[in-house]
Amino acid sequence: MTTYRTASARSEDVAFIPAIELAAAQLLAGHAPESVLSETTSIDELNHAQHSGRLWVALADDVPVGFAHVTVLESTAAHLDELDVHPDHGRRGLGTKLVLEVCAWAATNRYGSVTLTTFRDVKWNMPFYARLGFREIESAQLSPELGSVVEDETRRGLDPARRVVMRRLVDSSR
Ligand SMILES: CC(C)(COP(=O)(O)OP(=O)(O)OC[C@H]1O[C@@H](n2cnc3c(N)ncnc32)[C@H](O)[C@@H]1OP(=O)(O)O)[C@@H](O)C(=O)NCCC(=O)NCCS
Repeated sequence: MTTYRTASARSEDVAFIPAIELAAAQLLAGHAPESVLSETTSIDELNHAQHSGRLWVALADDVPVGFAHVTVLESTAAHLDELDVHPDHGRRGLGTKLVLEVCAWAATNRYGSVTLTTFRDVKWNMPFYARLGFREIESAQLSPELGSVVEDETRRGLDPARRVVMRRLVDSSR
């Protein structure tokens, strides 16, 4: 039986991540242009995130099958830049565990919230995050940094009407 767990990424985990990103993107076929689905986070950026403690992996018998990558765009919020679980290992709670790891890290590191952008109309996007306590940030309320994320997505071919920016407040008082 496969043993699953989530953990902070080790340096040797980084090389597995682009293939996970590409496989998970296939779940979004038809929702995003092929050019976006074939994008991967650069190894340099992943190495930097791993060194900085902003990269987590889901492991199946110690082999990475999912990851969460956080960037820091603003001092008050941790931004969940990418969350992917390989479809062969989906719906086992790994995506949820990765999000919870990120929220716990954000609280410990005194960020007030975790932010992200996702698809409004994909079942395992907006509703998935809503169940985990994320709420929509209306476009008029977006910080300049989050506004730039949406503008960049639009430039890359994503329809802003189908995207939503979400935030979960985290308890940093512990
Ligand atoms: C979103 C994603 C990370 C979730 O990972 P996961 O390990 O499957 O997540 P979990 O098992 O914790 O929870 C999955 C929940 O999402 C929903 N979900 C996931 N896949 C689904 C599907 N194909 N159809 C309908 N609902 C789905 C379900 O509610 C599911 O809970 P359930 O299995 O109890 O019904 C993964 O589906 C993925 O990588 N998707 C492609 C990339 C993506 O959408 N990334 C996030 C964009 S911001």
